[in-house]
Amino acid sequence: MKIFLDTAILDEIKAADAWGVLDGVTTNPSLAAQAGRNFKENILAISALIGERAGTVSAETVSLETDGMIEEARLVTSWADNIVAKIPLTPNGLAAVSQLAKEGIRTNVTLVFSANQGLLAMKAGATYISPFVGRIDDTGHDGMQLVRDLVEIKNYYGYESEILAASLRHPLHVTDAALAGADIATLPFGVMKKMFGHPLTDSGLQRFLDDWATIDGSMRPF
Ligand code: E4P
Repeated sequence: MKIFLDTAILDEIKAADAWGVLDGVTTNPSLAAQAGRNFKENILAISALIGERAGTVSAETVSLETDGMIEEARLVTSWADNIVAKIPLTPNGLAAVSQLAKEGIRTNVTLVFSANQGLLAMKAGATYISPFVGRIDDTGHDGMQLVRDLVEIKNYYGYESEILAASLRHPLHVTDAALAGADIATLPFGVMKKMFGHPLTDSGLQRFLDDWATIDGSMRPF
């Protein structure tokens, strides 16, 4: 499973990139607002950083009309080869995705909350489909079931869209997305950091260091 970071904050992306586990980045207008930088400059900086790993960065359109979405998608994807246009799942959005697919422009269909929406996005030719797991959980339903359903539909019919588990809130979401067969999980930096954590790793490491320190200095290389 590919791991994307769900952030527009460059320092977070740099940190995750240094760990060697980053395959891409997703942003949205809310995350762009948090970054507090010029949108194009920020997307280009992210693009350059993850481009070394052949990763993609999703930049979201904000128009509600098909023509406007297409125009914005053409613009953001013209900035660099690894930028993907993020388009909301509306009738106008799917019309845009369909046209953009014909032009060879990659899309990430966002705000997906049902299997039927995902099915339509697959048929329209979406590159990525983003089911919002955490936001479904917030309504008292099982968000991860949507990821399982979309993976099953995709595999049953052989659609090429990649299922991108989004709105992940904690490490168990990441494990469950991997077990569900999601192609990609996008996660906030805080969740990625928590994936490293285990108290037995910390205590085990401390014991190794304590025992190592008991060896006479002349008998160890460092
Ligand atoms: C997806 O690409 C979205 O940017 C994101 O995962 C939404 O997450 P949230 O529900 O935590 O805002």
